[in-house]
Amino acid sequence: MKIGIIGAGFIGRALARLAVRSDHDVMISNSRAAKTLGSTAVAIGCKVGTAQEAAAFGDVVMVAVPLMNHADLPVEPLAGKIVMDANNYYPARDGRIEALDNETTTTSELLAAHLKGAKVVKAFNAILQADLEKDSRPASAPDRRALPIAGDDAEAKRICSGLIDQFGFDVVDAGPLADSWRFQRAMPAYCIPLDVAGLHKALAAAQRGVELPHGSWRP
Ligand SMILES: NC(=O)c1ccc[n+]([C@@H]2O[C@H](COP(=O)([O-])OP(=O)(O)OC[C@H]3O[C@@H](n4cnc5c(N)ncnc54)[C@H](OP(=O)(O)O)[C@@H]3O)[C@@H](O)[C@H]2O)c1
Repeated sequence: MKIGIIGAGFIGRALARLAVRSDHDVMISNSRAAKTLGSTAVAIGCKVGTAQEAAAFGDVVMVAVPLMNHADLPVEPLAGKIVMDANNYYPARDGRIEALDNETTTTSELLAAHLKGAKVVKAFNAILQADLEKDSRPASAPDRRALPIAGDDAEAKRICSGLIDQFGFDVVDAGPLADSWRFQRAMPAYCIPLDVAGLHKALAAAQRGVELPHGSWRP
């Protein structure tokens, strides 16, 4: 599959490595220029391009930019495409966003509202980048970790679940994008290693507006 990745930071690079390892054709991009990603491309074994080019390239496009920059993402090349969204809201980094502070929307619904026509699936936001490769396991492993997804398009979720499985994780569907708050920052399922049963429990235990202490999810 062709996978475009917008964002070449911690998460974008880790996702690119996992995708290349699963034999996908990958193009990574950042906000500056492809020429700033030369050594990254060689180290990972992927193509580089602009965000516009990565969006046009991918059958599936992964978004791994700070939330505050989501409105800069190209709309037209992503219309009709599956977009996997790893965004989280960190007010200290992203600034205050009233609709998130008052819980009338979620980060992925904000992205979906910007990317008109795209099939947004929230994924990979609830795992620390250092764990993405460390915790990846084959399907038969007894200690396989599960990751949550949410989205409004059943076929997009099926394809994303297949990719996450290839990357080395089980998947738990947390429901539509409107329910993605259940695994947003500081919820019980956020960045805590859990298996399928544990993740179901953590998603059910989430209470909107009730946050774990900041940073408690970091080892
Ligand atoms: N780090 C983690 O463990 C982790 C885990 C799960 C989810 N997340 C979430 O994933 C997102 C990215 O986090 P990160 O830690 O990977 O951030 P990061 O290391 O700061 O990297 C951000 C990347 O996004 C690029 N970027 C910014 N604006 C862009 C734009 N308009 N178009 C194209 N590329 C753009 C930056 O490119 P330039 O350098 O050229 O500006 C940079 O490559 C955040 O929402 C974060 O909360 C992070």
